[in-house]
Amino acid sequence: MDRKRETWATKAGLILAAAGNAVGLGNLLRFPSKAALYGGGAFMLPYFISLLLLGLPVMLIEWVIGRYAGKRGHGSMTGILGLFFGHASWARAIGSLGVAIPILIVMYYIWIESWTLGFAFLSLFGAMPEPVITSDPHQAMEPFVTFFKTYTAPSFTAGVFLWITLVLNWIILQRGVVKGIEITAKIGMPALIFMGLLLGVISLSTNNWIGIEGLKFIYNLNLSGLKDPMTWIEASGQIFFTLSLGMGAIATYASYVKPKEDVIKAGLWTAGINEFVEVIIGASIAIPAAFAMFGALAIPELAKEGTFRLGFMTMPAILMSLPLGKLLAFVWFILLFIAALTSSLALTQPLVALFEDEMKWSHTRAVTFSMLLVVLGAHLCAYIPNFLDELDFWAGAVFLLLFALIEIIVFIWVFGVENFYRELTLDTSIKLPKSFVYFTGTISPLFIFFIGYFWFSEKLLDVLKEPDPYKWLARIFILLFIVFLAVIAVISRKRVLEGPRI
Ligand code: PHE
Ligand code: NA
Repeated sequence: MDRKRETWATKAGLILAAAGNAVGLGNLLRFPSKAALYGGGAFMLPYFISLLLLGLPVMLIEWVIGRYAGKRGHGSMTGILGLFFGHASWARAIGSLGVAIPILIVMYYIWIESWTLGFAFLSLFGAMPEPVITSDPHQAMEPFVTFFKTYTAPSFTAGVFLWITLVLNWIILQRGVVKGIEITAKIGMPALIFMGLLLGVISLSTNNWIGIEGLKFIYNLNLSGLKDPMTWIEASGQIFFTLSLGMGAIATYASYVKPKEDVIKAGLWTAGINEFVEVIIGASIAIPAAFAMFGALAIPELAKEGTFRLGFMTMPAILMSLPLGKLLAFVWFILLFIAALTSSLALTQPLVALFEDEMKWSHTRAVTFSMLLVVLGAHLCAYIPNFLDELDFWAGAVFLLLFALIEIIVFIWVFGVENFYRELTLDTSIKLPKSFVYFTGTISPLFIFFIGYFWFSEKLLDVLKEPDPYKWLARIFILLFIVFLAVIAVISRKRVLEGPRI
């Protein structure tokens, strides 16, 4: 079977697909909540330092290695890690962790994505609660809190929108990289940026531009966060999550570039667009809107209640009280939906690539099997308490850090500085100096190591002590899933060795 791997049809399509991968709920929900929770300006310095020292280097590494691996017929971390160890089974098995991470994430991510679609239509058709006009945030939000809890319980409606979301993802992935993912991004991303700018302006201008105070709160840079380990952990965690790094999601997309693609440019565009939608658009919507409606004191209060409070309860409460409120709430949730959709495709594609490139399955078979696993996981997240949080904790924070460390060590040190440098400068217009490789190869791992250390000492033991049976159920599921993918990595090895060289 000599099947050719797909490549992105156009340069614009490639950039928009990669931007769609990175831009997601992380930008519009997670970022404002974390920034507010960690004191706005205090959060931003560790955030920008992490962006420069970790985010950008790892982004470029994943693009360079993705192109390298794609030329050799591999798009999933299973195959990619194997490449550097003569396709050894153990290396492929470790690489599978890099496929397990995005799939474990998409299992809950797609459930949240379906809320955004559901809330969009419920807003439009007037099924959301009526806003209460009051300056007390708790009173104003109460109906929306109740509504959110009832919806995600889950309600029947939520189940219907979950299926609509799953089927939509399924269809797009089935259509493939070019006709599915690339086209979705080409339509979705410009719309996303337009709607984001629109809502940003509306939020900032609310109540005679008081909203601007919210933006100032985020950009009131101060050094206090630099001393706090938790702020560092959360800021660097946000950088990985928002740039889709540390799990091969970027490398998988990069494996579909044409052989001579300028991956440095592509990486810089990806990071640039993502950061624009995060620190400009993301910073201008939820926090400024909340600021304008409820004042400065409400911000940390709201953030404490978790990531969903701001986006699913505070935002509709605010928007619905403005003129054309239903329409504005619709725009907000559709904006979130597009952001989430282009990311859930990117989270699932690594598994599709694993089945296609390593198991040599047909595209249809690979997509069907991948989506069945996502369907299963999404339902576990929807119906079993604490599943969502556990998956987010392990896959979205712990494993991510660990795998990023593995990536840097293998791609720079095992591959070799000379080899990596050759790939880095091959067919790229910006020639980075070799010191960049040495710098990245040492500073980034040390950075991750220290964050990991704080992390283990501050959080891990507490987490493991909790006796909640649902959490243990989720942990067993995670473990079984990782083992399952590792087994696939090992049994598919023979097919790779025997298969025709592509
Ligand atoms: N970066 C996406 C976001 O900000 C999430 C994501 C992570 C998408 C990993 C793909 C891969 O929401
Ligand atoms: Na992002």
